[in-house]
Amino acid sequence: MPPQNLSRRAFVKAAGVLGVAAGMPLLCPPRTHAESLPLNPADEDDPNAATGKVVSQATTLRGLAGKKGLLLGTAFSNSALRRDPAYGEVIAREFNCLVAENIMKLNAIQRVRGEFDFTAADAMMAFAAKHDMQVRAVPLVWHDALPPWAKDLTFPRQEALAILRDHIFAMMTHFRSRVFAWDVLNEGLSDKGPGLREEGPWFHSIGPDYVEKIYHMAHEADPEAKLFYNDFDMDGMSKKADSCYLWIKELLARGVPIHGIGLQYHVRVDQHPSPTEVTENIRRFNDLGLIVHITELDVWLPTQATAEHLQQQAEVYRQVFETALAARNCPAVLLWGFTDRYSWVPGNTGGTFDHALIYDRDYRPKPAYAAIAAALR
Ligand code: XIL
Repeated sequence: MPPQNLSRRAFVKAAGVLGVAAGMPLLCPPRTHAESLPLNPADEDDPNAATGKVVSQATTLRGLAGKKGLLLGTAFSNSALRRDPAYGEVIAREFNCLVAENIMKLNAIQRVRGEFDFTAADAMMAFAAKHDMQVRAVPLVWHDALPPWAKDLTFPRQEALAILRDHIFAMMTHFRSRVFAWDVLNEGLSDKGPGLREEGPWFHSIGPDYVEKIYHMAHEADPEAKLFYNDFDMDGMSKKADSCYLWIKELLARGVPIHGIGLQYHVRVDQHPSPTEVTENIRRFNDLGLIVHITELDVWLPTQATAEHLQQQAEVYRQVFETALAARNCPAVLLWGFTDRYSWVPGNTGGTFDHALIYDRDYRPKPAYAAIAAALR
């Protein structure tokens, strides 16, 4: 089906520019997933084995990203994988990197305090290993995605520190050497102005020094691990990006082990930073010796999206990939999902925004797919 509320005609017009980018006919009625996703695993190994009917590695995003040495990732959901065979097929074909959308968060790993359940995350790791994909991990510490027991705001300081230490050590021990980068802290800065975010148990129970404590804990748990700070609304030269830059610079000067910055990059199609700004922002973090990753890219369209919106969205995706590729040290770009069938955007925006990803709900590539492929060529 065309994206909801986009007329068939508008969709066909938008889809036409894609040609056969992913080997999928676009101007025909919706097919079953099995029919619409011709896969030939042998072709993945040997681009010369392309028969013309199957998807050649040379034209998949994964193949193109691999040639550029770029990690191209997507958020991953085990439940989507179980219920929907096309989901795993597209991921394995188009991406070389995964990040758990939810199954590595505290409320998934420690539903019961002190009982670590790695089952779902291990299933993702097995999928990644089978398809030779790298895994990025989010987040060890966050004010959100808390199980009920951790919503208690009155932990004594030492108890809160012990909870975080146990969690960080358990995670980093269990997944050691299977994860190439960790977001130690997610969204630690306030949305309302300079300074730390005060919501949640960790700031509340421990105080502002919880930040440096958790980075030292993570470094102690795995001295080889790459430790990131991840946040939103700081992709370009925003006030929040400025605060983050100064804050991280100060933490580094005090010897806090931070190796990278994650720019979430959730943006609206009509409100996003310019490539020049993003370039400048990445450059200043790189100048501090930090790696930068784009960690949760999606580009939100109004629910009543038009063909023009799809073109504008493609342009934003293209710019982000070009900017990352041109940067000195931005070796990973991860999308927050790939199909509009499973996207957090409609639920998170009360239905105001949708269509944020590069495939529609029926796994047909949108103009953004071709735009990324063009940026990667
Ligand atoms: C979101 C998931 O996509 C949703 O499924 C879940 O209900 C809430 O969390 N920033 C982050 C991600 O760092 O972890 C969030 O993921 C999206 C915003």
